Amino acid sequence: MLNANKQLMEFDYKLLKLGNPALLQRSTEVTEQELGSSQLQQLLETMWQYMHKEGGIGLAAPQINVFKRVLVYGVEHDECYGTDATIPFTALINPTWRPIGEEMEENWEGCLSVPGLRGLVPRYKQISFSGIDPAGNEISGEVDGLYARLIQHEVDHLDGVLFVQRIKDMRYFGFETEDLKFIKI
Ligand code: NI
Repeated sequence: MLNANKQLMEFDYKLLKLGNPALLQRSTEVTEQELGSSQLQQLLETMWQYMHKEGGIGLAAPQINVFKRVLVYGVEHDECYGTDATIPFTALINPTWRPIGEEMEENWEGCLSVPGLRGLVPRYKQISFSGIDPAGNEISGEVDGLYARLIQHEVDHLDGVLFVQRIKDMRYFGFETEDLKFIKI
């Protein structure tokens, strides 16, 4: 018999990449029943492993073939990214965000699902976001710059959107080995 826990145990973790149609689907909310479960904990541990192994600063569950609204992210220092952002290591579940103001800014993005490539993507400069942690406690904040970009990029994954779909000028899309700045979100 299938129950929610059994379904979680059957997750088939693998990194999905651009071109995989599964990345284009909307992921579903984590239920109260799933919160605090060992299965959710296992998912989070697996996500942290992938994120660190691949050298990213964020990962969304659908990128490893789990279509739940779960993110992990964080970066300890800003050397690679050319910003003054320090982003706390966070597991964020069922996240939502909205812009503060209308100002947009462009910056380079990469993605573990789009290995080796970078693109210049417009995002809202400042946003507020909220969600819950794995224990069900509310997390919220107002952030800007790289942190705001990260949240927008990762929540896009939960809605089946990849950063390449947001590039306005495809001249600014290319391999990281070329003359591009890069961040791996
Ligand atoms: Ni990504």
